[in-house]
Formats: sequence, structure tokens, C-alpha cells
Amino acid sequence: MKKLILILLAIILAFSIAACGGENTTSSEGTSSEFPVSSSGASEVSSKPTEVIESSEMLSESEEHTEEEKEILVAYFSWSGNTRQIADIIAQETGADLFEIAPTTPYTDDYNALLDIAQQEQSEDARPELDAQVENWDSYDMIFVGYPNWWSDAPMAVYTFLESYDFTDKTLIPFNTSASGGFGKSLTGISESAVGATILDGLELTEGELGEAQSLVTVWLDGIGLNG
Ligand SMILES: Cc1cc2nc3c(=O)[nH]c(=O)nc-3n(C[C@H](O)[C@H](O)[C@H](O)COP(=O)(O)O)c2cc1C
Repeated sequence: MKKLILILLAIILAFSIAACGGENTTSSEGTSSEFPVSSSGASEVSSKPTEVIESSEMLSESEEHTEEEKEILVAYFSWSGNTRQIADIIAQETGADLFEIAPTTPYTDDYNALLDIAQQEQSEDARPELDAQVENWDSYDMIFVGYPNWWSDAPMAVYTFLESYDFTDKTLIPFNTSASGGFGKSLTGISESAVGATILDGLELTEGELGEAQSLVTVWLDGIGLNG
């Protein structure tokens, strides 16, 4: 009889052990159906969900960034090409669109005559009519505005340009070329004409610096967080 009880106990014990092993198998199968299981260990299994969450968050952030990406315009006036050279570099480095500010009636090619005309326009506070309008103005958040120093100010056509558009919520970044005078008094005029604009520190290059314009522009763009 004792022997029979012992055999029965042994059978019950054997069934209990088998039943516990079965529960463990079910549990690990549940885990593997929720997360991708790697053969190289449990720590990878637990790190997978974290990675997926992080990368999906990064993805949505970068998607948001793309939606919010700023459109940039480089608008410039240039009579003899120096300011155009800088405008081209900025556009190349930032991927911006280019727009030339040009009067409907082009200026003379005669330098001495131009000196007089420019001075006359300035004394009259003229607003020469422009030959073109920016398309899709609303799509631009950031507008570089470049011009030469003319009699310590901007050419009057630049003021026509600034007063033709709504600068509310726009960022304006001026740049200038000159023989030596830099922006002169033009920054005051610009802030008065570009009503509503946030104006960032600009770049002024003298004719003597134009040979190293590429590197000077790149360093400046880096400084304002707009490297190419
Ligand atoms: C009408 C006129 C007036 C100028 N007045 C000045 C001035 O007051 N100070 C200065 O440093 N340079 C002056 N300059 C030189 C220009 O600012 C310089 O050559 C500039 O780089 C020209 O740019 P652009 O080639 O884009 O027209 C003047 C040039 C012109 C044509």
C-alpha cells in the first residue's frame, strides 16, 4: 500500500512539473508576438521597443520640420555686378530663390552720369518704379536684401521694393557692397520701409573683400545659422 501511495505521489509530482513548464512556454510566445525577438539575447528584445519609439518620434519631428521649412528669397539690386556676386553665393549656399530689384527705366551705363542721377533721386526721396514683382511673396519667411552703397544710402529702388510688400512676420537680412562705406545710413531707412520685419545682422563687403567673398559669406551664414 505504501508503495502504491509513493507511486501515485511520484506521478502527481511529474504532472505538476510538466504543467509549470507549459506555462513558461506560453508566456514567452506571448512576448515574441508583440516585439521582434532577436536570437542574441533578452536585452535586445527589451531595447527594440525603445528604439522603435525613439525613431518614430524622430521621424515625426523631421516631418514637422519639413512642413515648417522656411522659404528663402534673395532680393538684390546691383548696377555693376558686385552685389549680384554676393546674392548668387547666398542663393547657392541656402538654396534660396533670386529676385533682381531693377527699375522699369534702366539706369545709364555712364558712371559719372549715374552719380548725379543717384544723388538727385536721393534728394527727392524718389521711389523709382520697378520692372517686376515677386511671385508667391507669402511663401517666403526670410528675405535677404542686397544693394550697393550709393551716396551712403541704398539706391532708392530698394526702398520702392521694401514698401511694395508686407513684411509682417518676415525676417529681413541685409547685405551690402561698397567702395568703403558699408551700409552707411541705409539700415535706418530699411527698418522704416520694411514695416513689421525682424531685421538680422547683415553683411557688408568692400570692393577689396570681394575676392574672398565665398568664404566671408559662408562664415557669416554659419554665424546666423544658415550654412549650406
Ligand atoms: C551712384 C554711386 C554712388 C556710390 N556711392 C558710394 C558711397 O557713398 N560710398 C561708397 O563706399 N561707395 C559708393 N559707391 C561704390 C559702390 O557702392 C560699390 O562700387 C558697389 O560695390 C557697387 O555695387 P554693384 O556692383 O552691385 O552696383 C557708389 C557707386 C555708385 C555707382
